[in-house]
Formats: sequence, C-alpha cells, structure tokens
Amino acid sequence: MMGDESLEPKRALDVTRRQFLGAAVASGAALLVGKSDVIFGADSSTTSKMASNPTFTLGGDLTVNRLGFGAMRITGERIWGWPPDRQNALKVLRRAVELGVNLIDTADAYGPDTSELLIAEALYRYPKGLVVATKGGLTRPGPGQWVPNCRPEHLKQALEGSLKRLRLERIDLYQLHTVDRKVPLEQSLGALKEMQDAGKIRHVGLSNVSTDEIVRARKVLPIVSVQNEYNIEDRKSERVLVYCEKENIGFLPWFPIGGGRGLKPENPLNAAAKAHGVSVVQVALAWLLERSPVMLPIPGTSSVPHLEENIAAAKLKLTPEEWKAIDALAG
Ligand SMILES: NC(=O)c1ccc[n+]([C@@H]2O[C@H](COP(=O)([O-])OP(=O)(O)OC[C@H]3O[C@@H](n4cnc5c(N)ncnc54)[C@H](OP(=O)(O)O)[C@@H]3O)[C@@H](O)[C@H]2O)c1
Repeated sequence: MMGDESLEPKRALDVTRRQFLGAAVASGAALLVGKSDVIFGADSSTTSKMASNPTFTLGGDLTVNRLGFGAMRITGERIWGWPPDRQNALKVLRRAVELGVNLIDTADAYGPDTSELLIAEALYRYPKGLVVATKGGLTRPGPGQWVPNCRPEHLKQALEGSLKRLRLERIDLYQLHTVDRKVPLEQSLGALKEMQDAGKIRHVGLSNVSTDEIVRARKVLPIVSVQNEYNIEDRKSERVLVYCEKENIGFLPWFPIGGGRGLKPENPLNAAAKAHGVSVVQVALAWLLERSPVMLPIPGTSSVPHLEENIAAAKLKLTPEEWKAIDALAG
C-alpha cells in the first residue's frame, strides 16, 4: 500500500499539514545523562500552559514516565527483518529501561514480528511496571508495504501472535494500528473487546484516527490512548490532541522528531538549542512534553547515543518565551 520505509499508512485527519523541509538536526548532547541514570521525575517549575507532569496514568492504573521509546527502528532496513547488528538492538532496548523508560511502543508489523521478538529477548522477564504497548491491524506483504487488515479474525490471530512473541498472557496496551476502510470500526473493536473480556488485553488504544473515530470507538469500549503523527512541524492531529487532553486519554505522537526525514532546525528551535547547549532533537522532545500533560512521545532510534540524548530531553525545561516561539511554528 504505502511505499516509504518509515511511513505507515497516512489517513486524512483534522488540520492542515506543514511540509517537512529537510533532514538536518543540530548536534549536541549537553543533557546527556550524568551520575544517576534514572532521569524522570525532575523538577516541575513551569507556566500553567506548559505541562510539567513527569508521569501519566493510562486507563487509571498504568503509570508511565511520559517519555517512552518507539521500537520500530530496531528492526532491519525499511522496518523489515532483523537489524544488521542484533546485539546493538538488544543494547538499545536494555539501555532504554536502565534510563527509566517504562513505556515501549511496538507492533506486530515492525519487522514483521522482529521488534516484538527483540523486546522479549532483551527484556523478558520484564521489570515491574514496564508497559509494552503493541498494535495489530496492519500487515506487511513486503518491505515498504503496509496493508490494513482489521477484520475480527485477523485481529484475534494478530493478538495471539503478539502474546506469544512477547511471552505474555496479557498485553497491557493493545492498539488498533489503523482503521481499515473495508471493515466497520465497530467490528474491529468488537473483536478487541472480546479479547479484553477474555483477559488477553488490559487496555485498548487507537492509532491513526480522527476525533469522530475516537468518539465512535468509545461507544464500543474504553479507549485509553491514541497514537497519531504529531511533531513541531506536523500538527494536523491538533484537534485529536485537544480532544485527548479534555478526555484524559494518552496521546502518543509518532514521528515526534520528524521520522527518517528529521526536523528543519528553524530559528526558534535553533535558538533554544543554542541557549541550552543541547540538540534540536532534544528541544523538539521537550516542547512536546510541555505541549500537553497527556503527551507521551515515543522517539525511535537504533543507536544508544541517540537514545541517551533523547531520553535526557525529559530534563530540559524551555522558557515560556522559547516555548511560545516554537509553538508559533505551527503551519
Ligand atoms: N502508529 C503509527 O502508524 C506509527 C507510524 C510511525 C511510527 N510509529 C511509532 O512511533 C515511533 C517513533 O517514530 P519514528 O521512530 O518513525 O520517528 P522519530 O522518533 O520521529 O524519528 C526516528 C528517526 O530519527 C533518528 N534519530 C533518533 N534520535 C536521534 C537523535 N538524537 N539525533 C539524530 N537522529 C535521531 C533515528 O535514526 P537513528 O536510528 O540513526 O537514531 C530515526 O531515523 C516508532 O518507533 C514507532 O514505535 C507509529
């Protein structure tokens, strides 16, 4: 269906899209983790508009540090197969947990299967409190191909596969990866509700949805999270985010730092990065965290140094002026 390696299916959402313009990101990692590896729960001085809660509770009982990890990039090229350096992928996952990450996002479609298998290989028996959030509803006939299949039978099979690969009896957060135009949303979610009633899913989330679809979904079962594309340059899901904030639903922005194309280091981003001696990527993540108390960014990387740089961004506090200047970049 879709061609680009890092682009899962895009669906028409709420607000206009701003163009991505380049791949450059500034370097610098002055916030790299120091003596204590666990960097969450830092201070919370900020203005009323800037979110400062270090944690968020999904579905009333799963409290996670707000900066998570996206495990799509630990697979092979074009999100296909095994990574070229499997030991490195395992290191990235273990380092994420050492640094305090307790929300890892994955999907059966990543690899397919290999992202979930690597997570289990690196982290099983999982540390207490670690939430592995996976997804079903997208199939991978080949590299670069992402084909929706949200038929109830397929979703049930997909869930069983994820349980097996992750070596779990229950998935804490199972997300419907997309809405399949060929299958009524209610039917897809009906299957997930059955699996939830059977004790195989703790909480259900959605991905790549509009606000109308979230409203429809909530008539079938409780929805605790939504995962849509969102970053400084692409805020077409702004209305979805506002809805999630109002309803206290977790919002996991994918491509939080622009995906494989990166973010254009526009003036306010660069200025803030220079002022704090950090990278543009770190500023972008800090801005997201401050954008909403329900924001749960899941930056993806295959590199331990990048991971350390990204997670350290949870400590960065932008000034209200910097925050506003970056906010104004919305197209
Ligand atoms: N639901 C959906 O439809 C959907 C779609 C896409 C993604 N996702 C999820 O969202 C997560 C995040 O999205 P993403 O991984 O595609 O995009 P992203 O987090 O915005 O960006 C990842 C890209 O940025 C690079 N990168 C990461 N940290 C960096 C740093 N500090 N400096 C420079 N480059 C850096 C990575 O390359 P290196 O490996 O070289 O660091 C990779 O190419 C995924 O892992 C996946 O779990 C969901």
